[in-house]
Amino acid sequence: MTTLQNDLLLRTIKGEQTDRFPVWLMRQAGRILPEYRAVRASLSGFKELVETPELAAEVTIQPVDILGVDAAIIFSDILVIPDAMGLPYQMIKGKGPWFENTIQSKEDVQRVTEKIDVADKLSYVFEAIKITKKELNGRVPLIGFCGAPWTIFCYMTEGEGSKTFSKARRMLYQDPELSHELLHQITEVTIEYLRHQIAAGADLVQVFDSWSGVLGPDQYSEFGMKYVRRICDAINDVPVTVFAKGAYYAREELAGLNCQTIGLDWNMDVAESRKLIGPDKTLQGNLDPCVLYADFKTIEQKTKNMLNSFGNQRHIANLGHGVYPDTDPEKVKCFIETVKEFAKN
Ligand code: CP3
Repeated sequence: MTTLQNDLLLRTIKGEQTDRFPVWLMRQAGRILPEYRAVRASLSGFKELVETPELAAEVTIQPVDILGVDAAIIFSDILVIPDAMGLPYQMIKGKGPWFENTIQSKEDVQRVTEKIDVADKLSYVFEAIKITKKELNGRVPLIGFCGAPWTIFCYMTEGEGSKTFSKARRMLYQDPELSHELLHQITEVTIEYLRHQIAAGADLVQVFDSWSGVLGPDQYSEFGMKYVRRICDAINDVPVTVFAKGAYYAREELAGLNCQTIGLDWNMDVAESRKLIGPDKTLQGNLDPCVLYADFKTIEQKTKNMLNSFGNQRHIANLGHGVYPDTDPEKVKCFIETVKEFAKN
């Protein structure tokens, strides 16, 4: 095994004292770099890129070379899970993901609860991780990831993006038992998926619960957190980060998870979050991605304010959600450089 040259992220997660905060950005691979668009333009679409390991590895490493981040995140998508379970998606330009078939009935759930061979169906992801690890050659750690079961459930039942995910939430009320059956199955497949990512070389994993904010505390506890907890309990050999966007109401409960890091979005007050979560977890976040549309001076100032608000405690600098696609890479570099130059006191 290659030893990591830059293990700042992993040391911060363990709670060790470091000279500076590690920094990376959610959605740093793809989206913003012209170098990514050049690779993407030579292909039929997003899916082809995700399913071609050599190219997925190439765009995974681009932000490390170009932006100087302290971690790489494997280029893939959370939607490879529904795809592997028998619900293929298409990525439609200007619209986002779209599923021809969705889950509406007991029969639909039965169809996706048949056992699948994760190693085979998602081999392109594991291959991409292996190639990336080899090409990174220990420069920075590699983050593996998955969608949280609730967020995957949202796409499988709704079939596309939505502001309210009311079809997904309707199912929780109309057939809670069937909802649990589907969530259980997504969880089982996801655990296996993460284990294979780790075996292929992922140094840590992040669980994205992008749509926890559409649920209230009771429902999140029953249909969301329950399954995130199972994932955390099942993954013990690498650190786990849980990012439950909009789940400000669940921060105390999140603190009880068997994970090392909790992601904060920009709506969450940092001091209040630290108080609710306690000193034993590393916090990740949480600059408003829109700050990167401001001028360089403002970006520097807002980044420093954000770092100061976390104090000298376990903190991974990041945005409060993924970087927006039309962000100027120079502005992203300004954010990263500001974090790197910020002296810890
Ligand atoms: O972080 C990274 O850079 C690694 C790659 C990554 C992608 N998607 C690539 C991608 C990761 C970690 C994701 C996670 C993801 N995908 C989430 C959770 C994080 C979040 O943002 O809340 C969600 C909800 C999805 C589902 C998804 N994929 C949507 C809604 C869309 C369309 C809008 C968008 O985000 O661009 C995608 C497409 C997608 N996934 C792109 C990329 C680079 C853009 C596709 C393109 O190049 O045309």
